[in-house]
Amino acid sequence: MTKTIQRRAITIALLTVAARSLWPIDANPLLFFYDIYVTRRIAGGGSGVVEGDDDGMMSSRRAFPPGSAPALEGKTAWITGASSGIGAELAIQLARAGIGRLVLSGRRRGELESVARMCREASASASASGGRGTGARPVVRTSVVAFDMSGGPDVLDSAVSDALRDAPSIDVLVLNAGRYQCQPAMDADLDALLPELMRINFESPVLLARRLMREDRWREDGRGHVVVVSSLLGRGTTALNSVYSASKHALGAYFLTLAAEERSWLRVDVVLPGPVDTGLWRGTSSSAPAIGLPPLHADDRSKMSVRRCAQLIISGMIGPNSLFYETWVTNNPGLLWVYLASYEPNTFRLLTNIVGSLRLDIWRKRGEDALYLPTLLLHLWECIKEWFRRLLISHL
Ligand SMILES: NC(=O)c1ccc[n+]([C@@H]2O[C@H](COP(=O)([O-])OP(=O)(O)OC[C@H]3O[C@@H](n4cnc5c(N)ncnc54)[C@H](OP(=O)(O)O)[C@@H]3O)[C@@H](O)[C@H]2O)c1
Repeated sequence: MTKTIQRRAITIALLTVAARSLWPIDANPLLFFYDIYVTRRIAGGGSGVVEGDDDGMMSSRRAFPPGSAPALEGKTAWITGASSGIGAELAIQLARAGIGRLVLSGRRRGELESVARMCREASASASASGGRGTGARPVVRTSVVAFDMSGGPDVLDSAVSDALRDAPSIDVLVLNAGRYQCQPAMDADLDALLPELMRINFESPVLLARRLMREDRWREDGRGHVVVVSSLLGRGTTALNSVYSASKHALGAYFLTLAAEERSWLRVDVVLPGPVDTGLWRGTSSSAPAIGLPPLHADDRSKMSVRRCAQLIISGMIGPNSLFYETWVTNNPGLLWVYLASYEPNTFRLLTNIVGSLRLDIWRKRGEDALYLPTLLLHLWECIKEWFRRLLISHL
């Protein structure tokens, strides 16, 4: 009897230690460990520390160091959605890491110009600080192609022509522009919003990539790299994000199919970020607000920093394609969530239904987009108390 109790206690202790050590992992393990390898081992120097890094456990880690990405050195990347958030941070970190030329897109020309300036400054200071292989590296060249992803085929055609006029060819296309939606799936205004969201998050990125691949002769030249910024909601689903989630599922499905068909010349990295601390949730960083979400009511506490997210995306971009065709970039419980969605769909469905109904209830009662686990548990506790109170009243 005592031995059984001892064994159980040891098992519980071991499980607790394992859970505590695994909880801070913020990407699928291959990417997590490859990122450590790239940022510590390849860089090998002290040039990559970014001041004011607020990533908790990651605070002692290096941000993406200059000269640590020979695979990107001198190349040209076209980033959509580069005027704020993940896209802007990606551009700046790529510039530091040694990319040769950046084409930046979004609708807000002013913001794009200032991101371009920050990229040139980051590139110049990385060159000056002398990271590995940065000796005679020229400062990144930048250009801005402002256009609206909901503008239709003609707008996309001229965006591709403009991008190729500024840069002789594009090596990497980062499809990052996107718009968030948060409202019940039966809301009346979704009838009108659905086509617009599908166009921005799915149809236009696909058409843009197809036009670029044709115009820039990727297949003929036997080269090409597309980075698709999808979402964890492109793998699982949850209450309130029906159309956003559908658009991200569609986006990932198209590009993973394309990658399977054109493996000989095309590299596709589909990135699934979890909640990241950008203005996407409130629409504060973009000229168009998040659909359905009342401003300033999103819960920030469970979100990854935008710097860490961009760093992990770049680590995936420069890693071997066979390992990173789909990567998960998220704090826990997001990682656990996507593992369950991928490998244990029935348990996932059960849990996501419970969490989803709590999230829906909080959205209806308080107008908040609750993602933080303790907030959801607290709400569950309130619901249980309310249920008991009603039960007591009905029996008295
Ligand atoms: N933040 C997260 O938690 C999270 C999680 C998973 C996935 N993602 C994905 O990450 C990507 C970047 O989002 P973010 O978090 O960095 O949000 P953000 O700061 O709001 O950035 C969104 C970007 O998309 C651009 N954009 C939006 N609508 C556009 C349109 N109609 N035409 C052209 N560009 C448009 C915006 O530029 P303009 O306003 O200048 O047009 C902006 O640069 C999105 O695809 C999003 O779905 C984000």
